[in-house]
Amino acid sequence: MNLLITGGAGFIGSSFILFMLAKYPWYRIINVDKLTYAGNLENLRGAEGNPRYTFLKADICDRQAMDEVMRKYEIEVLVNIAAESHVDRSIVGAAEFIQTNVGGTSVLLDAARDHKIRKFVQVSTDEVYGSLGPSGKFTEQSPLHPNSPYAASKASADLLTLAYHHTHGVPVVITRCSNNYGPFQFPEKLIPLMIANALQDKPLPVYGDGMNVRDWLQVADHCSALDVVLHSGRTGEIYNIGGSNEKTNLEVVRLILKQLEKPESLIMFVKDRLGHDRRYAIDSSKIQSELGWKPSVTIEEGLAQTVRWYLEHREWWERIISGDYMEYYRKMYEER
Ligand code: NAD
Ligand code: DAU
Repeated sequence: MNLLITGGAGFIGSSFILFMLAKYPWYRIINVDKLTYAGNLENLRGAEGNPRYTFLKADICDRQAMDEVMRKYEIEVLVNIAAESHVDRSIVGAAEFIQTNVGGTSVLLDAARDHKIRKFVQVSTDEVYGSLGPSGKFTEQSPLHPNSPYAASKASADLLTLAYHHTHGVPVVITRCSNNYGPFQFPEKLIPLMIANALQDKPLPVYGDGMNVRDWLQVADHCSALDVVLHSGRTGEIYNIGGSNEKTNLEVVRLILKQLEKPESLIMFVKDRLGHDRRYAIDSSKIQSELGWKPSVTIEEGLAQTVRWYLEHREWWERIISGDYMEYYRKMYEER
């Protein structure tokens, strides 16, 4: 099978490519990535030299390039993972989020329609549902209520994806996953940022009161969910993906400090994120009962493995935080 994966040089995309190459030794995988600040080909060392893997530096908003990729590689199935993914950046400026997350998805949907591909998996997020109170979980029927520019761009892309199914018969499936963590996650996101700061004995910036809740899922479990949705997900359907691992940010940060044997005095409460969603929790019973997927690790086990990975791959994140990243960090956290 010829499979196009977009955003394959990012955190989830690179993990998914390595997972698919290993699991399906007869698939041919084309990775289209623009290599923004978040795209890093070092994440794909494990795929280098594999004759079944091709990397193409291209923008999903480039209509001609996407058409050419579809034609040249005879793409049969597409998993759209490319996106601007960081909520804080979308608060500073939304333009690139609209361009890539909405505009890019629309270009890919057109290409999918024109080339009659067999399946289009749109990788979305639980953030499209907005924020929960102290109880309850998001189901696939929960109303869309995106609160950040990032979430609004992903919700728009979801609606466009469903409209292409309804109008043009494009065989789409949408996944909405909760917060991921694991190897190769860019250190602007909570878990890798806290690990990297703790390892440098730098303050750990916790937004607001630290009581916001996220539902954590190890990236490998997200990959196995995408795999079942890609192969068995019903066309036109939405599948929530989550680990039932709800934790407050403060609990996560304390777990990291404990595993690294660092003092809690490193925790620094900083100004809250604008429009900060209070709580996310995912009801993933549909994918579990229909497609037989389930998460394999708890946050405690997964976090311990992740902390170990960041300890053993210091050169990976040190290289990132020594470049442009420092300018980003100064700007974002000075303003708080
Ligand atoms: P990431 O920021 O690590 O990676 C995004 C990748 O997309 C990068 O390699 C980047 O270069 C590429 N990209 C960006 N704009 C592009 C463009 N115009 N053309 C081609 N490539 C482009 O993101 P991630 O955390 O791996 O998230 C991947 C996807 O999963 C996103 O769609 C995100 O909305 C979704 N998601 C993420 C999480 C999470 O916790 N990280 C949870 C649920 C859903
Ligand atoms: O829920 C899925 C979403 O999870 C994905 O769609 C997004 O792409 C992904 O970035 C993630 O969004 P969040 O905003 O939940 O993740 P982030 O790691 O940025 O923040 C997690 C929580 O930690 C959130 O409540 C904000 C808080 N936080 C984050 C940072 C970076 C802090 O307290 N301090 C920080 O420095």
